[in-house]
Amino acid sequence: MKTENTVWHEQNITKEQRSAQKNQKPCLLWYTGLSGSGKSTVANAVDALLFERGCHSYLLDGDNVRHGLNGDLGFSDEDRIENIRRISQVAKLFVDSGLIVSTAFISPFATDRAMASEMLEQGEFMEVYIDTPISVCEQRDPKGLYKKARAGEIKDFTGIDSTYDVPTSPAIHVKTDEKSIKECAEQIVQHLIDNQFIQ
Ligand code: ADX
Repeated sequence: MKTENTVWHEQNITKEQRSAQKNQKPCLLWYTGLSGSGKSTVANAVDALLFERGCHSYLLDGDNVRHGLNGDLGFSDEDRIENIRRISQVAKLFVDSGLIVSTAFISPFATDRAMASEMLEQGEFMEVYIDTPISVCEQRDPKGLYKKARAGEIKDFTGIDSTYDVPTSPAIHVKTDEKSIKECAEQIVQHLIDNQFIQ
């Protein structure tokens, strides 16, 4: 820590006030799954449904964040851990601002997902497992990355030569190979309604 001479300031407007103004309970939908599993697609569809309902939401998306904030990070275990650490911090700030926040990153390590969860208040964090078999992801291969990884042109590719810890008790379990994107998105929105995050 290089911040020993700084002091935490409490803000005048609380999270509860922001939440009441928006008529929703802020939370974090933490999507996790393999590359090509559909995290971004489903998260975008959920974000659109929330927007239509008049909810206040925001999506932090893997590839986009890696272009900016985390542009200095690669795909070693160490860099992935730092990637998720920064995202968790940013997501927490967004939750504090009263939003329904989504993060769509592979986030392959269970310990990092647990760390993200522990940063938030009880009940605010929901792990959303986008459970798509690697064979399906590889068949979709929207960015041609599996092909490159199989050919040895990309090293440390998740599911091939880098670990993915399968979530053991996700709050929401989504199967994109059995349902349409619309159905997957509705499943997640319904979870938010059932748990009184939104109306
Ligand atoms: S994470 O593991 O650190 O959470 P993140 O979600 O940010 O990953 O980025 C994953 C995206 O980066 C993939 O969808 C893919 O487009 C791209 N990518 C590039 N190299 C790799 C790699 N070695 N492993 C996985 N994804 C990669």
